[in-house]
Amino acid sequence: MLTYPSLIGDVWLKLSDGGLVNGEGLAREMGVSKVAIWKAVDKLRSLGYSIESAKGVGYRLVSSPNIPHPWQVAKRLETRMLGSTIVFLDIAPSTQDIVKRVGKAGAVVFAGRQEKGRGRLGRAWFSTEKDLAFSLSLEPPNIPPYKMGLLSLIAGLAVCKAVGGRLKWPNDVLLGGRKVSGVLIEGEAQHDKLERVYVGIGINVNSTEGLEELGATSLKLHYSTEFNLAEVAARVLNNLEPLYISLIGGRGPIDEIKGAMDTLGKRVKVISFSEEFEGVAKDIDEDGSLIVESGGEVKRVLAGDVIHLRTCNAN
Ligand code: BTN
Repeated sequence: MLTYPSLIGDVWLKLSDGGLVNGEGLAREMGVSKVAIWKAVDKLRSLGYSIESAKGVGYRLVSSPNIPHPWQVAKRLETRMLGSTIVFLDIAPSTQDIVKRVGKAGAVVFAGRQEKGRGRLGRAWFSTEKDLAFSLSLEPPNIPPYKMGLLSLIAGLAVCKAVGGRLKWPNDVLLGGRKVSGVLIEGEAQHDKLERVYVGIGINVNSTEGLEELGATSLKLHYSTEFNLAEVAARVLNNLEPLYISLIGGRGPIDEIKGAMDTLGKRVKVISFSEEFEGVAKDIDEDGSLIVESGGEVKRVLAGDVIHLRTCNAN
């Protein structure tokens, strides 16, 4: 398990601009021994970082692997709370389970690969080392459990803002009409208050195999270029924090959510826990519910899934 804050992370940060860094000077500056610096450099090399060294002169970072190691994400963060602790595991059952154990609000857990990645509604979520799978832990001070849907909407919105997609209610992100990302939200509530919420985000980033057959896509397939995983993750977190602050401060970014929502105005099939029906998606309620007009009736859908049927001009 790799974490940040950590010495190895701080050493990478010092080297990350590509300049020549003197080991002895770095040890003095960080208040550790020269051997500790040497060990950190050695560990970075074993993780795939290419670092040149010249005796008595210093170290120079030549290249870093495209892996969302905690320090690579931390370098790009502009947040105050999200990412206060960052963890990376090569393989995890599900990052949701790990973040629950890490506990701290603001903690973010990444996995290279998940053995039991979970999707919404009991589905499985598959991704590879070329993609992003991460979970974060939040302690919303004043959100009743029935508003949990809003938290997942803002997570989807943050992904949209980071990668340029549109939202499919409740929180799939579409690029060119195909799913590129999904959000899973799990909460712990007590006495009608959300104590802690775990937000899991999966983004198809650099994968290209087997997605189009499933009606899905990846950033690489859509934009025809390779993405830096830490950069994409940091962009999501940098977008999510102000949305979260707006949500816990009051009404939340409902208008922005509506603006990004591809579902509105579309004819949809709704599959909720209790029923299935078709109608036209009209609006998003203050608690994140989807308002659907069906057979002259207006229905509120708090949880469930929708299938976009075809664009409808009805207003
Ligand atoms: C969905 O579209 O059904 C939601 C997918 C959520 C997947 C992410 S990947 C990181 C986190 N860990 C999980 O096991 N699931 C979420």
